[in-house]
Amino acid sequence: MLYLWLKAGHVIFVIFWMAGLFMLPRFFVYHQEAPEGSPENAVWVDRERKLMKIIMWPALLVVWVLGLLLAVDIGAFQQGWFHLKLAFVLVLTAYHFWLANYAQLLASGVRKLSGKKLRMLNEIPGIAAAVIVIMVIVKPF
Ligand code: HEM
Repeated sequence: MLYLWLKAGHVIFVIFWMAGLFMLPRFFVYHQEAPEGSPENAVWVDRERKLMKIIMWPALLVVWVLGLLLAVDIGAFQQGWFHLKLAFVLVLTAYHFWLANYAQLLASGVRKLSGKKLRMLNEIPGIAAAVIVIMVIVKPF
């Protein structure tokens, strides 16, 4: 029973985390359309900071803690599907850290990537989430 509550919590926070991972690069695209130093620029810096602080960092932590508890409970470390899931979760986690860094660069006035490139990066969480869900539900190996 406790296992199912942990799993429900895990999936709820996965949803919050993924929502942030999809939204933040979109924010970056709109942010970069605002002129440097404008009031609109400052509003985007604030929105990005709040999204990371209130949603994305706490969700990342809870997803990891509950996910590891579930993994220990069912002995997932010995199972093939879990290895591939973990690899893709690490990709998502690295992407999260990269987004946090890009938000800081934007806040200090550095705009490294074009809107087109930022839109392309948005494919990463979609592909990773698809692989992860197939691994946890189908468990093909
Ligand atoms: C952060 C590290 C993570 C760990 C250690 C982890 C680990 C686990 C484990 C052990 C389970 C239980 C599987 C079972 O009962 O058969 C689980 C369930 C699940 N995980 Fe994760 N997970 C992590 C992140 C994620 C992410 C990022 C996603 C989605 C993008 C995700 C989606 C799911 C889903 C949908 C389930 C429920 C599957 C079911 O119906 O049983 N997890 N996770």
